Amino acid sequence: MSEKTVDFSPAAAPLAEKLLEPALEILARYPVGRERSALLPLLHLVQTEEGHVSPNGVAFCAEILGINKAQVGAVATFYTMYKRRPTGEYLVSVCTNTLCNVMGGQEVYDQLSEHLGVGHDQTTADGKITLEHAECLAACDYAPVVTVNYDFTVDEATPQSAVELVESLRNGERPTPARGARICSLKEMQYQLAGFADPRDGAVGDGVAGAPTLRGVRLAQEHGIAVAGFDPDSPITKTKPVRDETALPQQPASEEKPGRVASVARKAAGAVKAAAGAVAEKVDERRHAGRTTDTGDVKDPEVRAAESRNPTADTPAPSGTATTPVPTTPAEADGVADNEPAGDGKPAGDSTRGESIVSQRTAEQKPATNVTRRTEEEK
Ligand code: FES
Repeated sequence: MSEKTVDFSPAAAPLAEKLLEPALEILARYPVGRERSALLPLLHLVQTEEGHVSPNGVAFCAEILGINKAQVGAVATFYTMYKRRPTGEYLVSVCTNTLCNVMGGQEVYDQLSEHLGVGHDQTTADGKITLEHAECLAACDYAPVVTVNYDFTVDEATPQSAVELVESLRNGERPTPARGARICSLKEMQYQLAGFADPRDGAVGDGVAGAPTLRGVRLAQEHGIAVAGFDPDSPITKTKPVRDETALPQQPASEEKPGRVASVARKAAGAVKAAAGAVAEKVDERRHAGRTTDTGDVKDPEVRAAESRNPTADTPAPSGTATTPVPTTPAEADGVADNEPAGDGKPAGDSTRGESIVSQRTAEQKPATNVTRRTEEEK
């Protein structure tokens, strides 16, 4: 384990007392010098204690990683799984995204909201349930779905089944979820998300793919639909298979008659090419319209003029002595004085320029104050 010692501030110290050891274990998983990548699991670790990312949690993460609090805050506020407010023991998420919505997800959410008396991201007075509507929870085949602390708990939910779920949770029960691991508290889940094995029996679970997930495969089998050359028994390789060029469809030989699609594509490509040529001609015509051009200079006069205004390092210096422009007004004279080189490559007036701009702005703002006064007097 790392020998890192951090002098924690009073804000971070109470969390450091409880979380320093697992936090150092998380840091040790990252290459030296890249520990800041541990921020995501560290934020979950903070939530194991506090149920949300508190200001003290932000300070703890910043100090142990040697970054500033704004950097921690930027990450913590970006992801919805980091909670900004104290969250209930059970986070109940109802998917109201497209497919779930079509299948009644919004009705489920509305019924729960009415039953619990809370809205999105709000917690019941007993601190048990936080309700949220969620974007696609990646289980569209079981739409509409409800998760508890990110585990799939009610598939093909109805308003009634969702209310029964929250009632049993409020009564201290942990109902058997539809799939996967058994229900845990939000803080217990945060421990897993921080990257630690949960020793509780059945804390991590998986199951076989259910009927809705396999429906497409079954339909394909029933109708004899298969991907050409697909062998379900082929092991999935991690390396890219060598490409067999001979297996690729060959271009039709020139003497062969092309198919209908190929003919249409060729015609379309020809038409596009012709249209592009016509447009280019028109653009060229307009560019030169009404201008007399030297037949010996094929470059556009505008380009030529721009080149002469923007000499490069290779452009030879003009012959003759350079003349210094003579200021014609006092303001110009001030500007020339301010921009005299100071020897370090910067204009001499740079250090005082900011102050003069501020005082100039202040002077410009004065009339605005008078206008306000007049308006008040008029009242
Ligand atoms: S739309 Fe709800 S899980 Fe995908």
